[in-house]
Order: sequence, then structure tokens, then C-alpha cells
Amino acid sequence: TTCLLIGAPVDSGKRRRGCLMGPDAYRTAGLAESLSDLGHAVVDLGNCAPAPHDQDHPNSPAYALNETIGWTAALSDAAETAMTRGFPLFLGGDHSLSAGSVRGVANHAAREGRPLFVLWLDAHTDFHTPKSSASGNLHGTPVAYFAGRDGFDGFPTVENPVPEENICMIGLRSVDAAEHEALAATRIHCHDMREIDEHGIAKPLNAFLAKVAAANGLLHVSLDVDFLDPSVAPAVGTTVPGGATVREAHLVMELLHDSGLLTSMDLVELNPFLDERGRTAKLMVDLAASALGRRVFDRTTRSFS
Ligand code: ARG
Ligand code: MN
Ligand code: MN
Ligand code: MN
Repeated sequence: TTCLLIGAPVDSGKRRRGCLMGPDAYRTAGLAESLSDLGHAVVDLGNCAPAPHDQDHPNSPAYALNETIGWTAALSDAAETAMTRGFPLFLGGDHSLSAGSVRGVANHAAREGRPLFVLWLDAHTDFHTPKSSASGNLHGTPVAYFAGRDGFDGFPTVENPVPEENICMIGLRSVDAAEHEALAATRIHCHDMREIDEHGIAKPLNAFLAKVAAANGLLHVSLDVDFLDPSVAPAVGTTVPGGATVREAHLVMELLHDSGLLTSMDLVELNPFLDERGRTAKLMVDLAASALGRRVFDRTTRSFS
């Protein structure tokens, strides 16, 4: 596979700044080297910039709305182009970038005549519309956008919404009332941490992967740093206690690679300003490497009996 690194230094999706440094933190932590060590060709496409957009009003209810619209347009185009060339890896940037990456990937999937599936690894559902959001932070809205909910005036039209039943969220532990109500009316698969504790993380993931395989689908994975427990991944503005462990997260990535289904990925919400000696950036790089094939032992040549 040719891995295409697409820097998406989006910082407009919330008020706390720092995610713009994410792409360079991943580069510093050795992402390209880790992937080429696995035998992949790696092309770093550098950083994207938002499409030209109107200036934002400093006190608009949705924070930095126009800038986020500009990012959505630019990243959607970048995603659509990259999908014809290899495996795009979006280096965020906050989670509002996924409005663009997923829209572009969905357009590509539609052109190929294949269904798109999205795995959302996050403490949050990010299912607000700009109107339902109490914080006005648009990083809390991308799933609603690419699922085709109304309320995204001014954004690029979503011609190919991701079908609700093709969206699976794992790691949930912070869902606002308005999101909860909206989700209850959908067929989106929601798996909270309680379910992971009771049944293990492989169970909902394998069930979802079986659906992707049966439909010959494309699979986009969006990994939010706050999916992980803050004790192992402190570099994020929206920490929520009780997240995935290092081992659970690596297992998810390994199962994704084993499935052979993964076709694109976002790494989002890393805020290097909040990191401790780069440990969160390094963990995210190691998780990306697991998703792209890194193993301790090759299970086809080693026996574990
Ligand atoms: N639900 C909260 C909000 O809308 C938090 C969203 C956090 N999203 C994220 N991508 N970290 O403000
Ligand atoms: Mn998120
Ligand atoms: Mn989150
Ligand atoms: Mn399910």
C-alpha cells in the first residue's frame, strides 16, 4: 500500500488552541518511518489549507463556522483525490476535519459503486448539528454532517451521506442530551464503555467488520485521542476518564489490519501543547502502525498453543 500522509492542522472546531501542531507532532514522532519500516511506500503530501471563506464573526454561536466550512471543502477534495492513489491517513487537527475527510471518501466510494462504512473510536458521538450544540464547538458535529442531518447551512452539500447502519461508534462515555435524543432515532451502532467492560472490545468490532466484509464495503476509521484513557493519552482538550487502554486500542488496530478492510483513517484531536514529552503522539503513531500491519509475532508462522 502507498500511505498518503495528509496534514490537516484544523484548529477551528473548538476554542482551545493547539491541534494545529498535530501533523508536525506525528512527523516528529516518526510516523513516516514507522510505516515504511512495515514495507509501505509513504508519501507525505504536506499540510492542507482551508478553501477561501468568509471571515468569521468573533461572537457567532457556532465558533469559527466559516473557517471550518473552508476546511471541509479543502479536505473533502484532498480525500477524494487521495483515495484514487493509495491509503490516505489524515493527520489532525481537531475532529471537525472528519466532516471533510469522510465526505470526500464517501464521494469516492459512490463513484466506485461500493458502500462506505465508518468506525468512530471516540469518547463522544460528535452527533450535534451547529444548531443543537450548546458549546458551539464544531468538532462535536462531524458525524451528523456526513450522516446527512439537516442544519449545516453553508457547508458543502453531502451528496453521499453515510447510511446510519454503516456507522459504528466504540468507546462512548460522554454523550449530550440532544445527541442522545437524535441518536435514538437512528440505526447508528453505539457501543459505550460499559459494554466494552462487560463483553470485551473485540465483540462489537468483529460484528461490524463482518458487515463491512459481507457488503464489500470501504472502511474509514476515525481515531479520536480521547477514545484512549487520559492516563495514557493526556494530549487532548476533551479528556474523559474511563477510556480504552493501550491494549484495547492496539487490539482494535490489529483486528482492523487482519480484516484487510481498512481503506482510510483519521488521527484526530491530538493537542501537542498538552502532551508529556510526546507520549501521546508516540502512542498514536504506534496505533497507526498496528493498523497498518505492525506485529509482535506473525501468527501464521508462530505457534501459540
Ligand atoms: N459534546 C461536546 C460538545 O459538543 C464535546 C464534543 C467533543 N468532541 C470532540 N471531537 N472531542 O461540545
Ligand atoms: Mn471526536
Ligand atoms: Mn472525543
Ligand atoms: Mn452494533
